[in-house]
Amino acid sequence: MYAKLAGWGKYVPETTITNHQLAERVETSDEWIQQRTGIRERHVASDDEHTSHMASHASRAALEMAGVDAADLDLIIVATSSPDYLTPPVSSQVQDQLGATNVGAMTMVVGCPGFVYALVTADRFIRAGDCEKVLVVGVELISRMLDWDDRNTCVLFGDGAGAVVLTATEERTGVLSYVLGSDGAGAEHLIMPGGGIAEPPTHETVDAGRHYLQMNGREVFKFATRVMGSSLQQALEKAGLTIDDVDLFIPHQANARIIEFAAKQAGLAPEKVFVNVGNYGNTSAASVPLALVEAHEAGRFKPGDTLALVAFGAGLSWAATVFQT
Ligand code: UT7
Repeated sequence: MYAKLAGWGKYVPETTITNHQLAERVETSDEWIQQRTGIRERHVASDDEHTSHMASHASRAALEMAGVDAADLDLIIVATSSPDYLTPPVSSQVQDQLGATNVGAMTMVVGCPGFVYALVTADRFIRAGDCEKVLVVGVELISRMLDWDDRNTCVLFGDGAGAVVLTATEERTGVLSYVLGSDGAGAEHLIMPGGGIAEPPTHETVDAGRHYLQMNGREVFKFATRVMGSSLQQALEKAGLTIDDVDLFIPHQANARIIEFAAKQAGLAPEKVFVNVGNYGNTSAASVPLALVEAHEAGRFKPGDTLALVAFGAGLSWAATVFQT
């Protein structure tokens, strides 16, 4: 059996914050942000919105498109680094909100590549003959993890969710190859140091802002440009394909310059690269599925096309897959 991309959906919160609005709060400018990242605005969740709500919105759209009832799912995988709670897993909240009674659900915390990891995992469950219908979600409510006075991070990220439904088919579709990688030696370059088990929250950790996301942008940039091209190349080789076989490259939307660098290195023409970072900023695990959905809405791929999905982020970690739609 193979996995077929049967439905997809997205959700972004209504409220947007422009670069100009950010420039009123921290020392930055629309020009700096656009030149260095390509980001124009980002969406942020309202106070009463949770990660699970965003995931459920996107999931309902994907289930409806696939014509799959939530109760008939065999598995739900939610990729996120911003769950409602450290425990219980957010995937159980999503399962409950969807009315997917007693369906197995798990959360994958693999930073920005989380959705690609989850997609590959779902594909493997279907290929093994263990599941027929799997929901895969990439969701992030990262705005609540940011120090809005830290210009190193607050200008870069945004909230959102994307979901896909994979169903079993005899046609040869789904994951043709994949590469999963991690390098924990680079952990400190993208980290929320406080609030977990290593540094449980105390008045001191909270006063010091240790529960906010911290990033060494230059190091992550260097790492990203290194792994994007190499993991794409490895995935293509594993699939027995070349870059010319790729119909559309859907990279993690962290920074337009990183995407441009990776595309150039791979020898991809701009029309084969999908970019929507300008409207959303970096939505971490939601960025690849959000881009996938919008690429389809824009008519950028059709059934039978070969997609290359590549992501990198906290861990440090990365993932690439060549996926046939
Ligand atoms: O999903 C993975 C998550 N993270 C990423 O993908 C981030 C990867 N890194 C990046 O995208 C880039 O490194 C950034 C966009 C974060 C920064 O761009 P850069 O071209 O690497 O800039 P830089 O860090 O080398 O900083 C250049 C200057 C510095 O000033 P000095 O030292 O040259 O005087 C920074 O202090 O820009 C300054 N700067 C800013 N200026 C205005 C840093 N942040 C800002 C800001 N507005 N928001």
